[in-house]
Amino acid sequence: MNILIAMETSGVTRKAFEEYSNRNKLSWNIYSCDLLPADDGFVPNHMMGDAFQVVEYLNKKWDLILVHPPCTALAVSGNAWYGKNMPKHSERLKAIEWTTKLWNFIKDHSRFAIMENPVGVLPFKPAQYIQPYEFGHPESKKTGLWLHNLPKLIATDNVKDVYDTLPRKEQMKMHYLSPSKNRWKIRSKTYQGIGDAIAEQYGTYLFALQRKEQLMKRSWGGAMLWAATKDNILDEKEIRKLVTSTGELK
Ligand SMILES: C[S@@+](CC[C@H](N)C(=O)[O-])C[C@H]1O[C@@H](n2cnc3c(N)ncnc32)[C@H](O)[C@@H]1O
Repeated sequence: MNILIAMETSGVTRKAFEEYSNRNKLSWNIYSCDLLPADDGFVPNHMMGDAFQVVEYLNKKWDLILVHPPCTALAVSGNAWYGKNMPKHSERLKAIEWTTKLWNFIKDHSRFAIMENPVGVLPFKPAQYIQPYEFGHPESKKTGLWLHNLPKLIATDNVKDVYDTLPRKEQMKMHYLSPSKNRWKIRSKTYQGIGDAIAEQYGTYLFALQRKEQLMKRSWGGAMLWAATKDNILDEKEIRKLVTSTGELK
């Protein structure tokens, strides 16, 4: 499997996928890219460059591309600057156009795709919204996930009850962060619990698909999948697309 985590310097999602691949002895190719270097030092599979160019330069048959595009001009929290008739509104319009192009581009270049961005003004809606408190962090930052050919992400560790007991400053920790050179970076870093859930759940999805595709290449694979379907082990509709009624590969 060829996986690209684009627009990430933290390495949170890249390392979570690497951990998943190593644990399951999968030897997947996992890359990250950003205009900036990786925060975790020299990483040979972190490409410094524009995501559009990296996708084409590496010239892979991509299985999954995940993007974390900049959200400053898109997020509703920036309406005071980027809203209609506000000083930076033209930047918002450019960001909408660029991010729409990015999403269409990664869908065209990969079998599966994910885009992550906080609640914003993109004209096409995400498949779901998630919150850090659903993934073990008692904080809120409502974030959209746009999904291409993938099921929704499932909450792994809902700590909303703990979150509810906290003062607002703690609940919105990232929002209240004091000014510093790296404030934007700290604020935009992917939550570990979310990165881990993405790698574990979509890694498992890809792993299952890979096993199925390996099986289908064997002469007896189609027949076995057909039999498993009849015993209700696999989804019949999906298997029908792949094998004929005699169990031969189409
Ligand atoms: C909102 S931050 C995402 C940070 C990410 N969640 C993480 O944990 O590192 C957006 C990132 O996109 C990068 N970026 C902006 N334009 C880019 C481009 N054309 N190609 C690659 N990366 C880009 C920025 O440098 C920034 O690191």
